[in-house]
Amino acid sequence: MLLENTLTIDAAAVQFAADVRAGLDRPGQKELSSKYFYDPVGSALFEAISVMPEYGLTRADERVLRQHASDLASMVPAPLLVCELGSGSGKKTRWILESLCRLEPVSYYPIEISPAALASCERELAQVNGLTVVGVERDYLDGLREVAARRKEGTHLLVLFLGSTIGNFDSEADRRFLQSVRQTLVPGDCLLLGADLVKPLNQLLAAYDDPAGVTAAFNLNILARINRELDADFNLRQFEHVARFNEKTSSIEMHLRSKKPQTVTIPRAEFMVQFREGETIWTESSHKYSVAELKTLAAASGFHCKEQWIDQEWQFAESLFIAI
Ligand code: TRP
Repeated sequence: MLLENTLTIDAAAVQFAADVRAGLDRPGQKELSSKYFYDPVGSALFEAISVMPEYGLTRADERVLRQHASDLASMVPAPLLVCELGSGSGKKTRWILESLCRLEPVSYYPIEISPAALASCERELAQVNGLTVVGVERDYLDGLREVAARRKEGTHLLVLFLGSTIGNFDSEADRRFLQSVRQTLVPGDCLLLGADLVKPLNQLLAAYDDPAGVTAAFNLNILARINRELDADFNLRQFEHVARFNEKTSSIEMHLRSKKPQTVTIPRAEFMVQFREGETIWTESSHKYSVAELKTLAAASGFHCKEQWIDQEWQFAESLFIAI
């Protein structure tokens, strides 16, 4: 068992090293995948971001779900299996599950690659009356296929994809992803999609570059992680966090900018990388949707947008898509 664990950890480290090397070795824009933000330090920093006054997204998501959970429960078919892509902490999903369980017992399948996140979600939701939680340790689409294959005839699926993760896909990839989700569903199944909406530029920039520097620390932590896990020698003080809005793609883009010409060594990736002064590493983009765009997205991926609930304090939409 111990040996198996060690092997799994090694495989993950080898993958991390390969991805870091490939991303930093690119001839044009260097990049690091945003999935590597979330080590224990990164996850704690993201928790902090989500309570920052400037970052209204997480609270808006929770508010809309809380306010409209019973409307949603009255609009979905029964009997129902609920799957969530990414378990999160289970906190905001609670509102939806409680409303559904008031009508009839529900099975809930959080789909998540992190066993720690699954365990905390199971703990958080253990007390909900009438709820059965079955954690699925898989990536999103594999997990969804597995749950869909297990369903009994006549049972519908409600897929939850909350928190605006859809906005972090590259352009076009959002549609392709929803098309793949749709392929695992049958007509009448539902998808509840959380998406952040376009808002005034100063509000967006503050959300992704707060003056206290928590977001900067979160972004820079990916370099610190490379130092910790791959023995690299990034000097974090020689890089700075940059958040800018790309009007053409309607996305906030996050970068790490090299403040001077420098060379960094990454022994465990057997790699050395040079940076010019001002050169950046792209770490994530966060697309901001319009209400109309979400409806178009539904139609382009085989759904009908039945309802949209929008938070007025922080423009954020929860859209209920029905598979057609
Ligand atoms: N997925 C989150 C978002 O798009 C992550 C996030 C928040 C983020 N702040 C950030 C990613 C700063 C990189 C840098 O809102």
